[in-house]
Amino acid sequence: MQANKEELPTWLVTGGAGFIGSNFVLAQRAAGAARIINLDKLTYAGNLLNLESLRNDPDHVFVHGDIGDPALVADLLKRHRPQAVVNFAAESHVDRSIHGPQVFIQTNVVGAFHLLEECQRYWESLNPEAREKFRFLHISTDEVYGSLGPNDPPFSESAPYAPNSPYAASKAASDHLVRAYHHTYGLPTLITNCSNNYGPLQFPEKLIPLMILNALQGKPLPLYGDGKHIRDWLYVTDHCEALTMVLNRGRVGQTYNIGGGFELSNLDMVSAICAVLDKLRPPSPPFVHASLITFVKDRPGHDRRYGLDTAKIAGEIGWRPRETVKSGLEATVRWYLDHPEWVESVQTGAYQRWLQLHYGPAG
Ligand code: NAD
Ligand code: DAU
Repeated sequence: MQANKEELPTWLVTGGAGFIGSNFVLAQRAAGAARIINLDKLTYAGNLLNLESLRNDPDHVFVHGDIGDPALVADLLKRHRPQAVVNFAAESHVDRSIHGPQVFIQTNVVGAFHLLEECQRYWESLNPEAREKFRFLHISTDEVYGSLGPNDPPFSESAPYAPNSPYAASKAASDHLVRAYHHTYGLPTLITNCSNNYGPLQFPEKLIPLMILNALQGKPLPLYGDGKHIRDWLYVTDHCEALTMVLNRGRVGQTYNIGGGFELSNLDMVSAICAVLDKLRPPSPPFVHASLITFVKDRPGHDRRYGLDTAKIAGEIGWRPRETVKSGLEATVRWYLDHPEWVESVQTGAYQRWLQLHYGPAG
């Protein structure tokens, strides 16, 4: 429901130029649910084109900066007095964390620590009513729980942490810090652990957009190992709806799993993408896109299977995903087909050059 202009709460969203963050910001502004202060470092994964439709929106304020900059975060909190902080900002790609883990520790652990410190200070400065209302929502991942065997039940919120990649370890560390700031200092925190997101605006280093764009260009579709690794797929707008519901109804100090409920092997997922493309964009001269599938060297430490038990969020908060993997995948493929200018700017690096020119080096 659209809030009255005078009552519109302010939320500080971090990482709101990335894939999930920008989908979240766009959804909140479309619903008129909150005034958004959007703090993003604009790494390679942050893209202002994602927020182009908000260019003239007075209730969306973009701030180029780092969650690990305490003075900047303190100033934003003081000036804008947010009722909630929603932390999406992170390095998010497992393969990059294997090649270069340092930046993952810097942003996902040290950055999250600085953000928590400043939020804690701000929260303590609030009057009792505002303190009661304030929420710090931290977006995390199912990867913190490690890998499931083929017959294991999906992870519930009480599964032990067993992160296997530098990325997952850095997210686990930030989850522990968030938990500690609640337990020790009383900061009203919420943590969500979600499964693999897909949908519009995802940077094409991740499986689904990479495969769509490679297939369209007739390039090989590189599947790691035997292609039988399993992921639980969550359409991004379903995820954003769940986050809004957790923010409004979640119990302080709690953790909620958010999963799409569709476990699929990578081979099955890529075959499904190929089938959608065969239908929507039949190649000429004809061939089936699945003929481009190529098995390549496996990712080191590659987790075999993720799956999430979402009974808690369904029971306590009433959230269930709306999209099936079929409807979500078709919508996703259509979005990439319909946005060649977005794809080109991301792929050619023209967008990155523009950022350098306009903002100078980030951080
Ligand atoms: P993304 O990589 O697309 O976007 C991350 C955003 O954070 C970018 O806009 C980037 O510029 C920004 N950022 C990076 N470092 C920053 C810093 N130091 N200060 C401020 N901004 C910074 O990531 P995503 O896929 O949108 O993921 C968002 C969050 O959700 C992450 O915390 C990620 O761990 C988590 N998550 C993602 C998925 C998924 O499938 N994509 C699944 C589970 C959890
Ligand atoms: O599970 C949630 C996580 O999902 C998030 O926390 C991460 O931020 C997000 O990047 C994602 O991690 P994954 O490693 O699962 O996503 P990715 O898209 O990189 O890979 C999905 C699966 O596909 C994984 O089993 C590896 C495989 N893969 C990936 C690529 C890029 C391939 O087989 N070939 C590829 O080229």
